Amino acid sequence: MQKTQAYIQANKQRFLDELLDMLRIASISADPKYKEEVSRNADFVAEKLRQAGADKVEVVPTAGHPIVYGEKLIDPTKPTVLVYGHYDVQPADPLDLWTSGPFDPVIKTTDLHPDGAIFARGSADDKGQFYMHLKAFEAMLASGELPCNVKFMIEGEEEVGSVNLGTFLKANKERLGCDVILVSDTGIIANDTPSITIGLRGLSYVEVAVTGPNRDLHSGVYGGAVANPINILSKMIASMQDENNHITIPGFYADVLEVDTQERSAMNEAPFSEKAYLNDLGIASIHGEAGFTTLERTSIRPTLDVNGIWGGYTGEGAKTVLPSKAFAKISMRLVPNQDPDKITELFARHFKAIAPPSVQVEVHAHHGGLPVVTPTDTPEYQAAAEAMKTTFGKDPIPQRGGGSIPIVALFEQVLGVKTVLMGFGLDSDSIHSPNEHYGLFNYYKGIETIPYFFQNYTKLK
Ligand code: BES
Ligand code: MN
Ligand code: MN
Repeated sequence: MQKTQAYIQANKQRFLDELLDMLRIASISADPKYKEEVSRNADFVAEKLRQAGADKVEVVPTAGHPIVYGEKLIDPTKPTVLVYGHYDVQPADPLDLWTSGPFDPVIKTTDLHPDGAIFARGSADDKGQFYMHLKAFEAMLASGELPCNVKFMIEGEEEVGSVNLGTFLKANKERLGCDVILVSDTGIIANDTPSITIGLRGLSYVEVAVTGPNRDLHSGVYGGAVANPINILSKMIASMQDENNHITIPGFYADVLEVDTQERSAMNEAPFSEKAYLNDLGIASIHGEAGFTTLERTSIRPTLDVNGIWGGYTGEGAKTVLPSKAFAKISMRLVPNQDPDKITELFARHFKAIAPPSVQVEVHAHHGGLPVVTPTDTPEYQAAAEAMKTTFGKDPIPQRGGGSIPIVALFEQVLGVKTVLMGFGLDSDSIHSPNEHYGLFNYYKGIETIPYFFQNYTKLK
């Protein structure tokens, strides 16, 4: 991979400039106002795949946002790696908390990124990460060192649940045939502590509505005598966690696979500084389920969190009103072997059961996803671990991640193929938050590491 590495060094500035160009596209999948931008980003990815040398590049329309596909098949006797990523991003708001425009990428230094980091929505999640694969592919191909077949599938709906990608998978099993799926959409522990993600949590996401009186009321004339839906909703939510921060929904933990003490002590050996954690987040103490460490709470334990809550009057000044309605969006992160549909059902049943007769409640289910755990005794894990060892000079630590990538479970179910999650971001990169950023160190380290994965995997497979 010497020529490939030299090619990367010689083209560093252009690799960065191209990423910056893509980061100027506001590909927010959740907001219909940005549909054109999302589609423009798909075209951008297709164009760059063609320029890098991919064949059969196609922007595939779906019922939602397009999927970009491309491939380079060099030898049917060699393995095929399918690279998955997403070019869509989360909404950028609250805009006033960004120190520079979310779609106006600039490079700034931070304590953890002394060499600079690209500040822009999508820089780490996932444009900066999937683009590393396009550039690593370009470098290998241009240097005559591409060791195996590659397929690319870059979607535009990951941040809204990948529903149409599931349909695409089922309809294109043959075209997507491969030996392994390679994804960079997760992180490492620190820039001097590489790690490989070996698990993702699942997700059940619900929206609830609580209705009291048939109209907003004067909070003096009626207050005290009529149920206030916001007060009621707050109480209902508060009751869903007990004093040990256990979730009180009956049956919620029934299918949770308890992790044995040996594995738990191994996962707690991963470097973790509570002080740095508190400092980064600006909080005075940690909080969570009794009996579990922070590393365990964010990997092997399920959660219930309110993501948004609204109702009544939230404008300027004080309006005295007893609202008719209250709403909340609630996510539950799931672990093996919890089933998202079953959990959604348990939530809905419980939420209705605890509602007092003075209000009416509705529960709507949003997208969900299954949890995954990937094995470490596989050629793909080995290939990734050795690749990181080569470029970081250290063995990576296997670690389960707290986030969700729902399509990964479907890769296994539909295509029968395992995924290796070799991401390069940091937890502190503020993905989904204002001032999202991705280190230049991380971007280039990813581009340098990926070719070794291809080389190792072709050898080990
Ligand atoms: N890349 C993230 C998931 C992630 C981040 C996994 C960090 C592990 C570590 C992905 O884009 C994401 O945000 N997924 C959503 C789920 C989706 C259904 C909206 C999530 O986890 O909230
Ligand atoms: Mn992502
Ligand atoms: Mn995301």
